[in-house]
Amino acid sequence: MKKIFSINKKKLFFFKNLIIKEVKKKNPSFNGELHKIHNFISGKNINLIRLNCFKKINSLDWIKIIKELCSEQMFYLLGQDLLIQSKINLSIQMPKDRSSILKAHSDCWSADTPFQLNLWLPLTDAFSTNSMFIMDDIYSLKYLKKNSNSKYKNHKIKKPLKKNFISMKYGQALIFNPSVLHGNVLNQTKNTRVSLNVRFKSIFAPEPNIKNPDRKFGTYYKKFNILESTRFGLDIIENGIIK
Ligand SMILES: [Fe+2]
Repeated sequence: MKKIFSINKKKLFFFKNLIIKEVKKKNPSFNGELHKIHNFISGKNINLIRLNCFKKINSLDWIKIIKELCSEQMFYLLGQDLLIQSKINLSIQMPKDRSSILKAHSDCWSADTPFQLNLWLPLTDAFSTNSMFIMDDIYSLKYLKKNSNSKYKNHKIKKPLKKNFISMKYGQALIFNPSVLHGNVLNQTKNTRVSLNVRFKSIFAPEPNIKNPDRKFGTYYKKFNILESTRFGLDIIENGIIK
C-alpha cells in the first residue's frame, strides 16, 4: 500500500530549519535552499552534516511534531495503539553521489516486521532519480516468494521504471509498507533530495523471533500512542490477574 497526503508545512519547517542551521555552521554562505546543498557542501562533508543533523533531531522532541503531522492517517491505517521507531532517520541524496545509492530491497530482509508502515517525509521536492522508487505490491510479493532463500537477494530485480519513482512536493508525506521492494538509484537530477523516515507498527503486531532481538519493542521501537483502555487491559495481563 502507498498513500500520499498533504501535511502542515509550518510544522514540517521545524526539521527543515534545523538542517539549514547545521549546513550554515559548515558554510555560512548557504542560502537555505536544501535542494541546492550540493552547491555549498562537498560530497565528502555531507555525511558528517547528516550525522550531526540526525543526532540533533533525535535529541529533541521530534515525536511531538510527528504526532501533529500524521496521527490521523496512521490511526486510520494501523489503529490507535502504536509503536514508533526509536530514532527518526535522515537521508540526503546529492546529485551524482554514488555513496547514497540504496539497492532495491525489502525491509523484511533485515528482519523488520511486515506489519509496519514507513512514514517518508521529503524536506525538498522529490522527483525522478532524486526520489525513492517503490515497486508494486504484486511484483514485490512474487519476487519475495521466489527469492526468500536466495543468497543474492536483490539479484535480477527488474529495473525501476519512471512510474515507480515517487513524485512528491515539499509539504506532502508518504506512508508505505517497506516490505515492498524499494530503494534509490544514482541521483541524475540537478537537485538534492533531503528526507526523513520513521517506522510505525501496532503494539499488537507480532514481535520478531528471538534471533532478532534488535527489532523488538524497547530497542527498535518505543511507545507512540496507547489508548487508556489498552493500557488498563495490558496492566491486567501483566499482573497475572487473568488465570
Ligand atoms: Fe528500506
